[in-house]
Amino acid sequence: MSRLAYVNGRFLRQAEAGVSIEDRGYQLGDGIYEVWAVMGGKLADAEGHFARLERSLRELQIAMPMSRAALTIALRETVRRNKVRHGIVYLQVPRGVARRDHAFPLEPVTPTVVITARATDGAAQEAKAAKGVGVITLPENRWGRCDIKTINLLPNVLAKQASREQGGFEAWFIDPEGLVTEGASSNAWIVDKDGVLRTRDIGANILRGVTRLTLFDVAREAGYRVEERPFTVQEAKEAREAFVTGAGALVMPVVRIDDTPVANGHPGEVARTLRAAYIKRAAETAI
Ligand code: PDD
Repeated sequence: MSRLAYVNGRFLRQAEAGVSIEDRGYQLGDGIYEVWAVMGGKLADAEGHFARLERSLRELQIAMPMSRAALTIALRETVRRNKVRHGIVYLQVPRGVARRDHAFPLEPVTPTVVITARATDGAAQEAKAAKGVGVITLPENRWGRCDIKTINLLPNVLAKQASREQGGFEAWFIDPEGLVTEGASSNAWIVDKDGVLRTRDIGANILRGVTRLTLFDVAREAGYRVEERPFTVQEAKEAREAFVTGAGALVMPVVRIDDTPVANGHPGEVARTLRAAYIKRAAETAI
């Protein structure tokens, strides 16, 4: 089956789909994106991703290209036409097409809208979660607005590549104070020595993860104490557990940080419990 992409209101075969070479996303990385997990063919944590999408657009002064309702239909239709039951749906909204100039176009342009959907191997993902993954740590070198989900991802790309070359799954950025900010494509968490779940606060320069936000609720409901409190790499290495959250990884146990095993080097009870609880909640509330 050939994959189909939604491009500015039309479904095109992905292999033949394209946008203008003067699209500002292509020329300048001037645009934003969103990723929803797809569960049972539906959009997980839909509301949270829409809210962040609107915020990212607002921060870059790009107009919302269509209503939430219309966008929901386009996203779901892309998922349906690609027969994705379990996977992700990706939306990109660059500012639009204009003669190359760093400043915004003088005449307003229509934002470009591209949507693609991709199935992921659920069994392989569960096997990975059962084993746990490794992360490497790198100095934070991104810009000061990581709260905007922009398509400018070069530091994340390089960090992820470095991690892959070392057999890792994710890279954690470390700020000048030695505190973990977040992963290249996920938020970072630990279960500290006192059993408290900790992740960085949104006052820091991080992406406000939607999975992270839902997990606060899921974790508290499951009886865990959760705090938005930074942790050092050393604290993470000495933690009872570590894990990452994101629309791609969902809740993924971290069993190695650089060369140090976390606890006994196997996924812990909390991460395992939360992965199951998150997936259950997200699947039940998906639209
Ligand atoms: N990444 N931090 C960063 C830098 C991210 O890129 C992501 C998501 C997250 C987690 O956010 P959420 O829970 O809303 O997915 C945190 C997506 C999946 C990606 O880039 O593909």
